[in-house]
Amino acid sequence: FTMLCILALESSCDETAAAVLKDGEMKSNIISTQIKEHQKFGGVYPELASRLHLQNVASVIFMALDKAGIKPEELTHVAVTAGPGLPGALQVGVIAAKTVAAYLGIPLIGVHHLAGHLYANEYAGDFHFPMIACLASGGNSEIILMKDHLDFEIVGQTLDDAIGEAFDKVAREIGLPYPGGVAIDKLCKAHPEVKPFKLPFPRVPGYNLSYSGLKSAIIRKVEQEKAQNGGKLSDERVIEYAKSVEVAFVNQFVRKAFKAAEDFHAKMVIIGGGVSANSYLRSEVLKHKDEYEVLIPPMWCTTDNASMIAKAADHIIDAGYGIKRYYPNIEVINN
Ligand code: KG4
Repeated sequence: FTMLCILALESSCDETAAAVLKDGEMKSNIISTQIKEHQKFGGVYPELASRLHLQNVASVIFMALDKAGIKPEELTHVAVTAGPGLPGALQVGVIAAKTVAAYLGIPLIGVHHLAGHLYANEYAGDFHFPMIACLASGGNSEIILMKDHLDFEIVGQTLDDAIGEAFDKVAREIGLPYPGGVAIDKLCKAHPEVKPFKLPFPRVPGYNLSYSGLKSAIIRKVEQEKAQNGGKLSDERVIEYAKSVEVAFVNQFVRKAFKAAEDFHAKMVIIGGGVSANSYLRSEVLKHKDEYEVLIPPMWCTTDNASMIAKAADHIIDAGYGIKRYYPNIEVINN
């Protein structure tokens, strides 16, 4: 990866982010988060997200270049999250990236957001194939077989809700703030003495996962309990619920992932996505480090950011994709 200087942008959800990666080394990683603005709505409000991206995108680009000490003309590539994400939010990053690339006359690389989450692990170590990559986020839960860079075969996935979405819904029901997964993790860490109660293990074929049945069963139970207690749960019960859900949700993922690792003779297992910040998930995965090489992303690289997009772009460029000079793909009527 020599002589590459990539400006990467990320705007798929509620973070406006820009990063510079030079010769494989992160030079800057600027994140402007909108989390406080969305908290009032109990989740991400898409139209507001687009407006805030529009307001902040130029500033994060300038800050990323400044912090890296890089002049625009030194850039060799622009990378941007092309999807999946909120359509209006993505558009802001894509249009900004297209503008920079077109102005400088350099190639533009579109990056899959989830590939970015997996490549966040490269800030912790190198990949060794074949590998099982666990993607655990608010919108996706997937077990992926990677036989090489950029080679993603989904061997298992949730048949209903994503793990992060299920965390967030249960958290809301037991009265914890958005994002619920973060609140559950914090509460569990603060109360190591509290024991979880046992929840059923969903019967789902193969390496697939299921979170909606568990989630609904817990929500029903909480509602019943609240009805019997004047609409409230005691603090102690809230902690018990948080812990039980964390253990049940994570154990399902980890068990399926390591079954896949065994069956596909994986050398390495990695995790990525917002839920990879979860302390219990991280420690459960690391317990297998004698049988497999295990990589977990650095904590700073578990939430949406542009440096993970730049890492994935580095491999896309190395593989020879996106090396064409970028020209706007439009019809010109006065040419
Ligand atoms: O990947 P991500 O940032 O966003 C998308 O899915 O687009 O993941 C966000 C999800 C949320 O559901 C959030 O509650 C969850 O990740 N999350 C966590 C933790 N940190 C974030 N869940 C459990 N424990 C955490 N520490």
